[in-house]
Amino acid sequence: MGQPQPILEPLTPAAHFLVATIEPGGEAVARDLLAELPGLRRAIGFRLPGAGLGCITGIGSAAWDRLFGGPRPAELHEFPGYDGPLHHAPATPGDLLFHIRAQAHDACFELAMAIGDRLAGVGAIVDETVGFRYFEQRDLLGFVDGTENPEGAFPDSAAGVAALIGAGDPDFTGGSYVIVQKYLHDLPAWRALPVQEQERVIGRTKLEDFELDEADKPADSHIAVNQVIEPDGTEREILRANMPFGSIREGEFGTYFVGYSATPRTTEIMLERMFLGTDEATHDRILDFSTAVTGTLFFVPPQDFFDDLPAPPAADTAVEPAGKAAVQPGPAPSADGSLGIGTLKRSST
Ligand code: HEM
Repeated sequence: MGQPQPILEPLTPAAHFLVATIEPGGEAVARDLLAELPGLRRAIGFRLPGAGLGCITGIGSAAWDRLFGGPRPAELHEFPGYDGPLHHAPATPGDLLFHIRAQAHDACFELAMAIGDRLAGVGAIVDETVGFRYFEQRDLLGFVDGTENPEGAFPDSAAGVAALIGAGDPDFTGGSYVIVQKYLHDLPAWRALPVQEQERVIGRTKLEDFELDEADKPADSHIAVNQVIEPDGTEREILRANMPFGSIREGEFGTYFVGYSATPRTTEIMLERMFLGTDEATHDRILDFSTAVTGTLFFVPPQDFFDDLPAPPAADTAVEPAGKAAVQPGPAPSADGSLGIGTLKRSST
């Protein structure tokens, strides 16, 4: 199995997420950046001993075909987006994801800046989110987030089995799929809810983070909706690396959802259940207080992929017509190339 990118490493206190699009004609520069990334990370990380700087890089479906010829990751496709009766999960543009993580923000920022410099003129950063660790690994709803993640640092650990591609796709073992979504919380509405009711929304107690008894756990609680059991009794799992983010000035309080999985199908089943409902619930109640404003799916190659990138595609498929490249349904980039979601307030749902 190829050595994975640092997906299985424990969560760090700081993270910086960049989602970028590549302009038509910018493919060669994007390839140069991908090839340079391991060296960039080493150079910046070495100057900051103890920072534990890491970068997990993902490549979107349309970008893959523009950047590489040869075999394709079997399950790489565009994020479908979900339109539930009440809540929506938009699919938004993104060719490259950089999930930069470290013990401190300066290390993350330095690498983010180097990436931005190299993409200048050939790409746009369509979303940038600075995530931080909050008290006791809580999200901004005040609940501990990450408890039931599968554990272990090795490919054959529970976390590795959930997150890493195995023998099923031999060209890409050690790779992963990641879905990222930026959620904004309606904190005034959440705070107006008594703690006991909040616990029924999540399905765990707030202070101690204990799972509610089956009898007390509503079918539309977040954890009931996301416990996906196969007919043979096995549970489908993903590895989450969510980070809180926010802006006091903008009144934005959010969770950057990051779900790594060996197959994107598992995360998609969870999202279908959250947004479209289950046999017992119309939707996940966490969505009454959380609005998804982005959503993109990326393939995360194993680490050695960057040391020896596959050859580019044949020339006639390398550049898509202007305006078509990597654009998916979702908000159109604004004139400055951003999604214009930096100040997006919770839309009514
Ligand atoms: C569990 C928060 C979005 C999948 C949890 C827990 C919290 C939480 C507090 C309970 C503790 C834990 O086990 O981690 C949030 C927030 C979200 C969010 C604030 C954004 C609004 C999502 C999404 C998915 C997801 C989009 C899947 C696509 C899960 C899973 C569990 C979980 C699989 C564990 C269920 C179990 O086995 O008990 N989440 N989550 N979450 N969440 Fe989320």
